[in-house]
Amino acid sequence: MNAEMSVRESLGSDHEAINRALSDLANAVEGADFATILQVFRDVDRGLRAHMYGEERYLFQDFEASHPDDVRQLREDHDRLHRKLGELMIQTELHTLRKESIDAFIEELRSHAAKENVTLYQWADEPLHEAQRDALFAFLEERRAALRDRV
Ligand SMILES: [Fe+2]
Ligand SMILES: [Fe+2]
Repeated sequence: MNAEMSVRESLGSDHEAINRALSDLANAVEGADFATILQVFRDVDRGLRAHMYGEERYLFQDFEASHPDDVRQLREDHDRLHRKLGELMIQTELHTLRKESIDAFIEELRSHAAKENVTLYQWADEPLHEAQRDALFAFLEERRAALRDRV
């Protein structure tokens, strides 16, 4: 990972990779075979959970004291996204996953990402937080490979 990369660029491209994988899935979900859907969804699930855990562990804690209301909102978003992810995984396993459910989830992710761009990522890119950035990037490096590599 390039040490000069910003949190906004690095985690922003996670958001893009996740949304791209999900919209490919949404477009294919009614035609694709079950094994493919399950594989893509597992990659998204793993990548997104790692992304959120990285934010919680390396950024939320750091900014909780200085920005309590924003961090509380972002935590609530994460709780909801984790729950929805679990529901989508169950639907995937039951073969009842629908395009509409994936599209709705993508919209929720987009609005969460927009919030992070003007709060969390902006704060994390300030010079003082270099140690947190490095720790976050190191944590995410391998865990998101499945998403980044799929193109
Ligand atoms: Fe997040
Ligand atoms: Fe994020």
